[in-house]
Amino acid sequence: MKRVFSGVQPSGMIHLGNYSAMQNFVKLQEDSNNDCFYCIVDLHSVTVPQDPKVLYENSLELAALYIAIGLDPKKVTLFLQSQVPAHTELAWLLQCNSYMGELNRMTQFKDKSQKMTSVTTGLYTYPILMAADILAYDTNYVPVGDDQKQHLELTRDIALRFNNKFGNTFTVPEGIYPKVGARIMSLDDPTTKMSKSNPNEFSKIGLLETDAKIKKSIMRATTDSDSEIRLDWENKPGVSNLLTLYSVFGNISIKELEEKYKGQGYGNLKKDLVQVIINYIKPIKERYNELRGSDELKEILKEGAMRANEISSDVVKRVKDKMGFVQF
Ligand code: TYM
Repeated sequence: MKRVFSGVQPSGMIHLGNYSAMQNFVKLQEDSNNDCFYCIVDLHSVTVPQDPKVLYENSLELAALYIAIGLDPKKVTLFLQSQVPAHTELAWLLQCNSYMGELNRMTQFKDKSQKMTSVTTGLYTYPILMAADILAYDTNYVPVGDDQKQHLELTRDIALRFNNKFGNTFTVPEGIYPKVGARIMSLDDPTTKMSKSNPNEFSKIGLLETDAKIKKSIMRATTDSDSEIRLDWENKPGVSNLLTLYSVFGNISIKELEEKYKGQGYGNLKKDLVQVIINYIKPIKERYNELRGSDELKEILKEGAMRANEISSDVVKRVKDKMGFVQF
């Protein structure tokens, strides 16, 4: 069996960029050799201020979305990070085996903290908690988007260093990135990634978005002045982003799209892309609406946490043994 682990923050809108990475969650569940753990990483969300009521709602919303996109709780373990104490316990043990120099190099921390007036220590040590999430399950594969590459490299470094120092303890994980769509860009500025924190509401499209908003966002998406439709991230990032979205949600290769839209302007491409996205997310929205209020969700999360606890508490025991803690 191969262990798969990934997590998504319950920070409100889950957008098409997130979904691009989450598509791999579903693909990996279909291989019966994989034992998949998908986590709602609520402890990561509180590294920036959260309204408690909103965090609560967003966490259950994400649980419903996990299932709505096709994750089957009978095949995978779905759970809340805050329900499994091994994550924070292991994070502490790993913090004492990693270095400020490593955290100072994290580009996501640098970008995020630069825009803030006060920065929590939790935001600074965020990547160590992420390493703990992954290492607590003897994880082989971590499906994520491109923006998590540096965090995953740090996780591997920490695991290798610990293994060298204390003897073989951790499985060293590998990232799995989408072949197309590993980095979906903002619709208003295709040189920056699509992000929940972009204040321009038309820069991103949520998985639960209305048809009208999808249409507006795509139709006003930034393109360039000529009208040639081809993938060229350097000179035509806007069109390249639209082609990528079309490929991910229309299940068609970029080559085929370039062929299909040869000699046509951006208008047709955008109009068709609107329909492709609307059609793709329609059944997700329907399933989400059925699930959202149901008591079943909390049951699923409770059972998931029990299974997650069983696996991860054993790993933490192993780590504490190696480090010399007295355990009974
Ligand atoms: P988060 O919640 O920001 O994003 C969830 C997933 O979406 C991917 N993603 C994107 N993929 C393509 N294009 C984009 N524009 C885009 N924006 C986001 C992310 O790469 C991610 O896969 N630190 C993580 C959460 C986390 C985690 C973990 C992930 C905590 N512990 C352990 C894996 C394993 C994060 O903030 O993801």
